[in-house]
Amino acid sequence: MNRRNLLQLTLASAAASVAAPRLAAAEEAPKPAPSMAGGVYFTSDHPGRWSKKVKSHVPQIEKTVGPDGAVTLKITTNHKQYGYEHYIIKHVVLDGDYGFLSETMFDPDKDEPVSSHTLPAGYSGPVYALSMCNKHDLWLAEATV
Ligand SMILES: [Fe+2]
Repeated sequence: MNRRNLLQLTLASAAASVAAPRLAAAEEAPKPAPSMAGGVYFTSDHPGRWSKKVKSHVPQIEKTVGPDGAVTLKITTNHKQYGYEHYIIKHVVLDGDYGFLSETMFDPDKDEPVSSHTLPAGYSGPVYALSMCNKHDLWLAEATV
């Protein structure tokens, strides 16, 4: 081995020893968790496999403030009720920390998927409405009060 080959071999070894830890670190880096939106639950921005079902499944939230300052949410899902074969099972309202506030169950033989929920006195911040279809899963919408 002449001096030139020895120098090239030495430089190649040094480069490999510097690059190897970086490759190992990159392979071991934790992967970001996949978003649950579009997989576990669905939104208008993340409809996942139900992209053709957005209009009939995303809950609509209307806020009204009573004379006493109480905030009431009217939740509507624009979904027809086809008896127990295909229907909106319930609406759930959660606070900004995803804590349970209220729910309404529907009887598909007599109820339209519309519900009313009065928030705790003095509550302000984000609220989430969930609408659950027995065929097209769980849909979420957000509002701020
Ligand atoms: Fe549905």
